[in-house]
Amino acid sequence: MSGVTLEKIVKRYGTATVVHGIDLQVQPKEFVVLVGPSGCGKSTTLRMIAGLEEISDGELRIGDRVMNRVAPKDRDVAMVFQNYALYPHLDVAENIAFGLRIRRVKKDEIARSVTDVAKILGLTDYLQRKPADLSGGQRQRVAMGRAIVRHPAVFLFDEPLSNLDAKLRTQMRAEIKRLHKRLGVTSVYVTHDQVEAMTLADRIVVMRDGRIEQIGAPMELFNHPANTFVAGFIGSPPMNQFEAAVEMEDAGPVAVAHGARIALPALDALKGAQGRKVIVGIRPEHASIEPVGKGSTVSVELDLVETLGSEALLHTSIGDTPFVIKAETGGDTDHLSSVNAFHVPVERIKVFDHETGRVLGSSQMGAAA
Ligand SMILES: Nc1ncnc2c1ncn2[C@@H]1O[C@H](COP(=O)(O)OP(=O)(O)OP(=O)(O)O)[C@@H](O)[C@H]1O
Ligand SMILES: [Mg+2]
Repeated sequence: MSGVTLEKIVKRYGTATVVHGIDLQVQPKEFVVLVGPSGCGKSTTLRMIAGLEEISDGELRIGDRVMNRVAPKDRDVAMVFQNYALYPHLDVAENIAFGLRIRRVKKDEIARSVTDVAKILGLTDYLQRKPADLSGGQRQRVAMGRAIVRHPAVFLFDEPLSNLDAKLRTQMRAEIKRLHKRLGVTSVYVTHDQVEAMTLADRIVVMRDGRIEQIGAPMELFNHPANTFVAGFIGSPPMNQFEAAVEMEDAGPVAVAHGARIALPALDALKGAQGRKVIVGIRPEHASIEPVGKGSTVSVELDLVETLGSEALLHTSIGDTPFVIKAETGGDTDHLSSVNAFHVPVERIKVFDHETGRVLGSSQMGAAA
């Protein structure tokens, strides 16, 4: 199994640079997800790996082989797109076999491979059907089958699930994960959906404006975001962030914002920070409606309760900045309507630089790798 290495990869269109020298090492068998807002360069990066876009600068290797000038068909990669583009006049078996047939693989070998792949993907009963007679999820599975059957060194996925409805998307997501466990093929997967990234990835690469903001395992990014952008992108609802001024008390630093006083962790970066403007970050699930250990209590006005079932989102604000609290309902929401404060343990609070948005103190992650 081969890894994929991107070294200072640049993409320019005319005078516009859309990918600014990306460094990324995908380990053999690893499942890496590129995530970020629309236009940040995810597809462009993936298409450079596939050979569908020329690389303006830098070096791409698959295994030990430099691939910059290698034709797409010789890179040993298989790509699954959002528009899976099956051949409508061919049945499922012929669609899956197509790539093998044009590579002149022997007939009986093709038949065996198609049978195996259909079994893996639960398509055995549909092999004689045309794509028009399949559901969206089944069509997506055929597209996957077409990629798998070739036994490529690397799978590349570009938003393969975004055409499916929510329920099917969740189901296919689990299937892709299972498939990866079973086949262990090195995979690079592009999505703008952070939930997909969190659930599928061994490591997530968060991109913005053609640059990498942070690389890490899902929970590393969740617990140790390098900056306000990652903090706001990973997690749902996103981390609450608001401006505050630091006041030094005997017990340690405190964030003051619109009358709220919130004890901050005793970070090295906050030594002598009296008056410093910062951004305070608190995840909705870390703001508790019950008193918790060592921490602060903040009075808020309840604006709206959104009930999700086992959980509810309490919409409040700090000054003009929205602040969301995620609370367990215990099957009943009556007690939530009287909430007028939240509690937050000091060790859960993140502090970011007001100008750069970088996390302060001893983040275990550091900046973008
Ligand atoms: N052929 C092109 N010529 C000029 N600019 C391009 C071209 N293709 C893409 N771009 C620009 O490159 C940037 C990155 O595009 P890309 O398709 O990689 O984004 P993305 O992260 O995949 O976004 P999305 O989530 O919307 O698919 C965008 O600003 C886009 O407008
Ligand atoms: Mg894209």
